[in-house]
Amino acid sequence: MPSRSPPTDLLSIRDVADRLPELLRHAARLKAERRRGRLTPTLRGQNLAMIFEKPSTRTRTSFEVAMNDLGGHALYLSSRDLQLGRGETIADTARVLSRYVNGVCYRAYRHVDVVELARWSEVPVINALDDVEHPCQIVADLLTMWERWKGKFRGHRLAWIGDGNNVLQSLLLGAAAVGLDLTAAIPEGYRPLPEIVTAAEALAGRSGAHLVFTTDPAEAARQADALYTDVWVSMGDEAEETQRKEAFRGYRIDDALLSRALPSAFVLHDLPAHRGQEITDSVLDGPRVAVWDQAENRLHAQKAILELLLAPRPRSRRPA
Ligand code: CP
Ligand code: NVA
Repeated sequence: MPSRSPPTDLLSIRDVADRLPELLRHAARLKAERRRGRLTPTLRGQNLAMIFEKPSTRTRTSFEVAMNDLGGHALYLSSRDLQLGRGETIADTARVLSRYVNGVCYRAYRHVDVVELARWSEVPVINALDDVEHPCQIVADLLTMWERWKGKFRGHRLAWIGDGNNVLQSLLLGAAAVGLDLTAAIPEGYRPLPEIVTAAEALAGRSGAHLVFTTDPAEAARQADALYTDVWVSMGDEAEETQRKEAFRGYRIDDALLSRALPSAFVLHDLPAHRGQEITDSVLDGPRVAVWDQAENRLHAQKAILELLLAPRPRSRRPA
C-alpha cells in the first residue's frame, strides 16, 4: 500500500472514499495470492478485538480468518459477555482494549456507540455494521462488481431494491465515490438519511455518478447491470416486522424483475437472505447470482482493510 497517511478508523465508507480503487486492487491481489496458496504475514503478532452486539456469520468469520491469514489473531467478544453488557462505559472499554490489541472492530446497534468507541480508542476502530452503515460490506460488494466489469464502474448501473438501510447508505456513498450509477427503488418512508444522501450527492458530483431514487422496482431494474437487495427487517428493526413486511411486499427480486435487467446482469445480496421475502429461491439458487462470490470477497476485502488500518505506525490520540 502507498505511504500516504492511512485513515485512523473506518467508521463510514467515506473514511476510505478516495482509497477505494487502491483497496479493491489490493484485495484482488490478496485474493489471487490466497488462491495460489500464498499468504504473507503482514500483521504478524497483531491482535484484533471484535465486539459484537448482534449476530454475524460472514463479518465475524471473515475478520477472524483474515487476521489468521495475515499472521495475526482475532478475539471474538460478545457484548453480552463483556462488562460492557453490565454497564461499563464504551469509553472505559476502549481505553482498556487499546492497551491489549492493535485494532477493534465493532458491530453495534447504534452508530453513535461506534463513534464513541473510536473517540476513546488509541487503536483503529472498524465499523462491522451499525444502524447507519456497513462499510466493510461495501468494499466487498464493489470488489465483486469490479471483478465482473473488468475494473470499470463508469458506464454501469446498479439497481437497489428494498430498504434504505445501513447497507444502502454505505453503498450510496461507495458507488458515488467510484463513479457507479445507482438507482434505488425504496418505498415511501424508508428512504436513506438525508445527510447520507447529501454526502453521496457531493461525492457523485465529483465522480460523475448518477444517483436516482424511485418507488418503482421495475423502473430501477430496467436495463440495469446488476440488482442488489437486502432484508426487509434489519437487526434492530424487529419491532416493525409486520408493517415492514407490508411496506416491502412489491420489493422482491424474482425472475420477473430480473428479466427486466440486462441479460448480462447479476444479483447481489449481502446475506443472510430471507428466502421468499426480498429474494426468491429461484433467483438465489439460479445461475445469475453473484452472492457467493460476494460473500467470499468479504474475506479479501477485510484483509485489504486490515492492512490499511493496522499496518504499524505511530498513533497517539487523546480525547479533548
Ligand atoms: N453480510 C453480513 O454482514 O453478514 P453477517 O451478518 O453474517 O456478518
Ligand atoms: N441490513 C442488515 C444487514 C445484515 C448484514 C441488518 O442490519 O440486519
